[in-house]
Order: sequence, then structure tokens, then C-alpha cells
Amino acid sequence: MNDRTKTDIIVAADAFVRERLSEKRYGHTARVADTAGSLARVHGLDEGRVRLAALLHDAAREIPPGEQLRLAEGWDLPVGEPERESPKLLHGPVAAELARRKLGVEDAEVLDAVRFHTVGAPGMGPLALAVYVADKVEPARDYPSVGRLRELAREDLYQAAAEALRRARDYNAQRGRPTHPASLAALGWLEETLDLRVDEDDSRPGEDQRGERHG
Ligand SMILES: [Fe+2]
Ligand SMILES: [Fe+2]
Repeated sequence: MNDRTKTDIIVAADAFVRERLSEKRYGHTARVADTAGSLARVHGLDEGRVRLAALLHDAAREIPPGEQLRLAEGWDLPVGEPERESPKLLHGPVAAELARRKLGVEDAEVLDAVRFHTVGAPGMGPLALAVYVADKVEPARDYPSVGRLRELAREDLYQAAAEALRRARDYNAQRGRPTHPASLAALGWLEETLDLRVDEDDSRPGEDQRGERHG
């Protein structure tokens, strides 16, 4: 995609969500886009693609739940028990599908970031992690540990997403509520990925050893 088309699609996405969202939720969307854009710069991701996904993430959030379910089923999107019970869980997958059908967004990573922003998914790419985390830490978010999560988001998107998922899981557990299976799978995958990273660091020779070996 050249820069011109990139800008065009971002302008179109902005108009698309402005039309479909209340002022309050559009405000949240714009803050998530700014936060995600800034995380993209910090972590060396393509800012335009991250902003596009962030702009679109809640595009279907104000479609009535019954209609979300109907759309998802009509488009053959995966609908499990949790989604049947709480169709608003479908607003990510429905938004991704709307973006593809109505805006012509074809970038698979952008669509995945939109699709997975609510419950997460194992194997989420950096773009999806940036949007997932930005949604949790945008400036108007206010909960006890948001400060720590904001710091973590700038340090490491994998750590930040894992921490957000652990928190969601513990919060649900305290209230006797189940956590979505995709969130548990995402957390398991992130923890494994982070463990592998630590193992790799351990097996890599340190500066001193390298110095000795070469001279
Ligand atoms: Fe959402
Ligand atoms: Fe959101």
C-alpha cells in the first residue's frame, strides 16, 4: 500500500466509525488510536497500520447484540457458547468483517488486530498486541494497576498483554465468572513465548565470555 492509499483508508475508517459510534465511544476510539500509534513508534511497528486497526477496533460495538449474532452467523464467523451467551463478544470479529466488506481492508494483520482485541488469541502478532494493550491503557482508563500496565506497554508488548490477560482472568475468578477460552489460550501462549525468550537469553554467551573467547 503506498502512503497516499494508506492515508485515504485511514480517513475513510475514521469517517466509518464516526458514523457508527456515539461521541463517547468515538472519543475512546480516537484515544486508542493515539495510544496505539505511540506504542507503534516505541516498538518499531508500522504506525499507519496500527492506527487503522485501532480506529476500527470498536466499529461494531454499538450494533445491538442480537444483530451482531445474526451478522456473525450470516457471515459464518466462529460463534461459540460464550458468544451465544454474550453476543457483544462478537464486536471484534464483526468489525473486522465490516472493515473487509465495506472498507475493502485486506491487510490480514490489521483485520486480526480488530478481530482479537476483545478476548485475545494465541499467536497474536505485534499489531494485534499493540491494539489489545492500547485498548486497556488509553488515557481515560482508570483502574488501580493501569499505571504499571502503561509502563509495561512501553517496555514490552508481550509482557503487557500477558499482564492484562492475567488481570482479567483473576478479576473474573474473584467474581466467580469464567474467562473466555481464547483469553486463557492467549495467556498460555504469551507465557510460553516469554519463557522461551528467557531461556534463549540464558543460553546466549554474556559480554565477558564473548570477550574472553575472542581475545
Ligand atoms: Fe472493544
Ligand atoms: Fe475499545
